[in-house]
Amino acid sequence: MSKELISMAETIRSYSGFQGKKAIILGSGLGSLPDQFENKTIIPYEKVPGYPKPSVEGHSGEFVVGTLNGEEILAAKGRFHYYEGFDFPEITLPIRLLHELGIAFVIITNSAGSLRKNYHPGTLMAMNGHLDCTFIEGPELPTINKKPRYYNSEILALAKKCSLKTGVQIKEGVYCWTLGPAYETPDEVKFIQNLGGDAVGMSTVPEIQMAGELGISSLGISCLTNFAAGITKNPLSHDEVIETADKVKNQFSKLVTEILIEADTN
Ligand code: HPA
Repeated sequence: MSKELISMAETIRSYSGFQGKKAIILGSGLGSLPDQFENKTIIPYEKVPGYPKPSVEGHSGEFVVGTLNGEEILAAKGRFHYYEGFDFPEITLPIRLLHELGIAFVIITNSAGSLRKNYHPGTLMAMNGHLDCTFIEGPELPTINKKPRYYNSEILALAKKCSLKTGVQIKEGVYCWTLGPAYETPDEVKFIQNLGGDAVGMSTVPEIQMAGELGISSLGISCLTNFAAGITKNPLSHDEVIETADKVKNQFSKLVTEILIEADTN
């Protein structure tokens, strides 16, 4: 695999000349951030040999390299989920590729359902922990090391600081990872609430774990696009997820831009 990774990284460098240390993975409906990049290069996933193509609506499947405030950033629009038939190595491939490219800090974003009445749709939530409700046997990853590079207080403090600076509110909470693709039943939602979950979604946890494993600092940000099933009477739909994400995209971009600029990768 590492030969393949090296060639994927070389492809990205040869298209874009990328030398940066910061990246962002953009989840469902959250792909508009790179619109603000300067000196942009778009690299569709199919131009990168061996790189898979996501099948979910709202995931366009391209890398965008560009600058924010003069700093080089790599954005991956579109990720891979178990429910699309991808396995752990494929789901974590984006992170392994970022590592090959020398990335030191990554923001990993997703859309998620809110489990809290006071976290209304449109709320941005920094992940400060996770629950694994996939109930699958994953690969062995070491438990949190001495100074975890995710959910750690310095990174969460950076998110808060950037929230104050930009005036874009951010909450914190525990993200519960489920396999999907179906949304949860109201009873499953109660179960996850009882476990201490604040949000529920179908991605991100393996990416955060792999980033930690490879020594990349990460910040997970959920855009809470809907109340999870049973919290209100409204039925859920992927359209609602995309619609809410679209409504908050400017606020979301403002906040993550500031975090990307402020993050210290030295
Ligand atoms: N459940 C699971 N995943 C999601 C949801 C949800 O309610 N909303 C967006 N992604």
